[in-house]
Amino acid sequence: MPRDYQSVLSDIEDFIQQERELFGGSMLTERRSAQKPESESQPVTPIPASASWKQAATLDQLNASICTCLECPLGSTRTKFVFGVGNPRATLMVVGEAPGADEDAQGEPFVGRAGQLLNKILEAVQFKREEVYIANIIKCRPPNNRKPNPSEVERCEPYLWKQIELINPKVILCLGLTAAQTLLRTTESMGNLRTRTHTYRETPVIVTYHPAALLRNPNWKRPTWEDVQRMRTMHDELVGRA
Ligand code: URA
Ligand code: URA
Repeated sequence: MPRDYQSVLSDIEDFIQQERELFGGSMLTERRSAQKPESESQPVTPIPASASWKQAATLDQLNASICTCLECPLGSTRTKFVFGVGNPRATLMVVGEAPGADEDAQGEPFVGRAGQLLNKILEAVQFKREEVYIANIIKCRPPNNRKPNPSEVERCEPYLWKQIELINPKVILCLGLTAAQTLLRTTESMGNLRTRTHTYRETPVIVTYHPAALLRNPNWKRPTWEDVQRMRTMHDELVGRA
């Protein structure tokens, strides 16, 4: 869907407002300061706007600095940017693939049918949706729910890495083959991946089936239940809960 001039303009205004809120307008004034007279004693190094999100100190700052992202073509077809949802200090982080139609409409991950099932899976091992953090590899919906392509992943995955860094979970639960192969840089099958614990940097990663896959193939529900039980046990050991 082509975006009209007004909505692009309003995104630009939002972006400028966010820069002000995040950096007190310093980035904008620093750019202007390049034209200051030589007599000004303080030399100022302009910060490239494209790098500003890397300095975000909180999830809210990160969201504000990337939610108008146009680094890949999905930026201009999305309805809403789907940053992530949940507890910023979550000990369990759930990682999916990419927003679908419902998520694109609401701006929140896993709110459609797969999301309802995810909530039940989490509840089955006594996790409330609100106490975990849920995000995707890709923040904008790929048209027709196709898989994200490598260049979209390359542009978008660093945002997830930054989210993981800020949240610093004890365990990551990876949902589905695409999310797992991407985060873990592997081409192994789901059958192999779910049999053992992986690591992303230092953090343990458990891989299981995507809830959308379970809706198509209920035979995978049983192994998924086993995977999340193992995840719960490992989580509690790491968090130090009885
Ligand atoms: N599937 C995903 O991988 N993520 C969502 O947010 C929704 C469906
Ligand atoms: N194959 C997939 O693509 N996803 C799953 O979750 C399981 C098998």
